[in-house]
Parts: sequence; structure tokens; C-alpha cells
Amino acid sequence: MKLKYLGHAAFYIESGDFKALIDPFISGNPQAKCSPDDFTNISHIFVTHGHGDHLGDTVNIAKKNNSTVISNFEISLYLGDQEISAHPMHIGGRTKFDFGIVKMTTALHGSGIQTPNGIIDGGNPCGFIIEVDGTKIYHAGDTGLTMDMKLLECENIDLAILPIGGNFTMDIIDAAKAVDFIRPKKVIPIHYDTFPVIKASPEEFENKVTNSEVIILKPNQEYNL
Ligand code: NI
Ligand code: MN
Repeated sequence: MKLKYLGHAAFYIESGDFKALIDPFISGNPQAKCSPDDFTNISHIFVTHGHGDHLGDTVNIAKKNNSTVISNFEISLYLGDQEISAHPMHIGGRTKFDFGIVKMTTALHGSGIQTPNGIIDGGNPCGFIIEVDGTKIYHAGDTGLTMDMKLLECENIDLAILPIGGNFTMDIIDAAKAVDFIRPKKVIPIHYDTFPVIKASPEEFENKVTNSEVIILKPNQEYNL
């Protein structure tokens, strides 16, 4: 599986014909070193919650690529109304797709969708466990530290992608505790330095984590798993 960090919480993942984006906030993302037009043949887009820095360019990219968006029921309805192919899931659900297996996990956060006509209810925020070709990655979305993360230890996660920026999500202290709970083989810190309010040092996080390999990626950096 090939991963590419797009900055903030956004990732491109690829394994054969499975070409997916997670939380594709590219337009207006101060960290992004790519454009929404750089992505072609996107088969799937995963959206953890309705906030603009995660829903991002989903609508445009999904329309252009005829992608299937995997998200919660409420966001799926919102996207379905815009003629986007959406696969609704909900918290705790596990589903087999042609590319692998997806489980939707809890996240402690909000999910309102900001529109010109006000805020639309985006349901519950979530994280995703995505298993492709025997490799399991967990993208936590935006969340505070939860005891539910202790349950993820049973999932044998190969790579956990965790927010560390604080203010809106876990900070470094809590994210290191999350690693203790989840026990992934590897961990990538995200959701920091995009805005002044979420400034954090990934090296400080790396120093706090003793039981997992920390991989610090720069925007547009690739990683093979
Ligand atoms: Ni958020
Ligand atoms: Mn966010």
C-alpha cells in the first residue's frame, strides 16, 4: 500500500485499482502542495466528519472522478443530494468492499457542515479502520482521547494516523496515551501546524512514544507500507 500525506488530515492511499483519498482538504489548506486536479481515477473518498478541513474538496473530486464516498449516514445523504455516489456506514459498522474491509470507529468531536445557508447536521464524527491487502490502517479523524481507543488494541493496527495539534483534538500528551491504548506498529502524527492554534512539534510526540515507530511525513511525502 502506498500512502501520500497531503497535509493537515488528508491522505492519498493506493493499492492497485484502489485509489482513495481520506479527508481531502486541499483547496485552502495552507499545508497542501497539490491541487484537487492532480487526482485522477479516485475510486473512493473517506470523510470522517462534516467540518470544512475534512470534507474539503470531496464534492468536486467525487463528481469529477465518479468516486464513491464512504462516510456516515447524514453526510452520505448530504452528498447524495448532490448526485454523488455515497456509501453510508455508521459507528461500529464493519463492511466488506471489493478493495478490502472498512470499520467505522467512534470519534469525540463535532460534524456540522457549514453551508451558505447555515450549518447542516453532519451526524456523528468518526474514524476509519481500512484494511487493504492484509494491511490495516486507522485514521482517527478529529477526536479527543477516548477509552474506546483501548478496544482498537484487538484490531492489530499496522499504522495509526492520529491528530496531535490540541485545541480541537488530542494534543501530544493525549495522542501518546492513545498510542499506548491502540498499540499500532507504526504511527503518523497529523492535524498540527496548519493553523497557529494547533501548533505542535511532531518530534516531541516522537520522543513521548516508546512503544510504536513514529513516522513524520511532510506534505506530499510518500510512504510505502
Ligand atoms: Ni473537525
Ligand atoms: Mn479538523
